[in-house]
Amino acid sequence: MTRQRFVRSLWSIAGGSVTVHSRLFMVWPIRRLVTADGAAFRALRLEALQTYPDAFGSIYEDEVARPLSSFIQQLEKNVILGGFDHGELAGMIGFYRQSGPKDRHKGVIWGMYVKPRLHGGGLASALLDSAIELGKTQVEQIQLTVVTTNQRAVRLYEASGFRGYGIEKNALKSGERYFDELLMVRFLT
Ligand SMILES: CC(C)(COP(=O)(O)OP(=O)(O)OC[C@H]1O[C@@H](n2cnc3c(N)ncnc32)[C@H](O)[C@@H]1OP(=O)(O)O)[C@@H](O)C(=O)NCCC(=O)NCCS
Repeated sequence: MTRQRFVRSLWSIAGGSVTVHSRLFMVWPIRRLVTADGAAFRALRLEALQTYPDAFGSIYEDEVARPLSSFIQQLEKNVILGGFDHGELAGMIGFYRQSGPKDRHKGVIWGMYVKPRLHGGGLASALLDSAIELGKTQVEQIQLTVVTTNQRAVRLYEASGFRGYGIEKNALKSGERYFDELLMVRFLT
């Protein structure tokens, strides 16, 4: 059984809610974050921005100034999936559906992050595959952007079926440094 088919079957066994596997055959609990996860979500998001400032479009200095209530609102309005390690929120991925009349067939993945101690353990693939399964219930394709130098993330996305379709030159500017972004898509139909 391929990795993706195994994920799909576990997803359907779990009723689309809780567990998926990793490629190392560990089971990571994954679920949508809710109001009660607000503080843990805020801490993980700030850790991501502080540890990997070049990987994200947002910056730590802006986000750390936001009150907890704003993170809670973000969780309530958007789908953010969390992956847990022994009960601790250890990874996250955001998903939303475009809202315009001509682009609501498309979804977007953002904010992918896994705690460094778990890198290579498959939680990232499990989160990504969960977001793809969710996307399949709402949209026809999922898009994402990734800084071109972030090859580990690019390889992860490619392993889950995303393909690059263009590069936005100088997509991000931080001080005097520019970053190109690879635009990636996975068609679901
Ligand atoms: C990007 C990130 C989430 C990836 O998590 P990770 O645990 O490091 O990723 P994984 O180890 O599962 O996947 C990456 C590697 O495994 C490989 N891989 C993943 N799934 C695979 C599969 N099913 N089959 C074969 N290889 C696979 C990838 O090709 C890649 O290979 P590498 O070892 O040569 O680098 C993590 O590194 C992170 O949080 N980075 C900082 C924030 C960030 O960059 N976010 C992305 C913003 S776009």
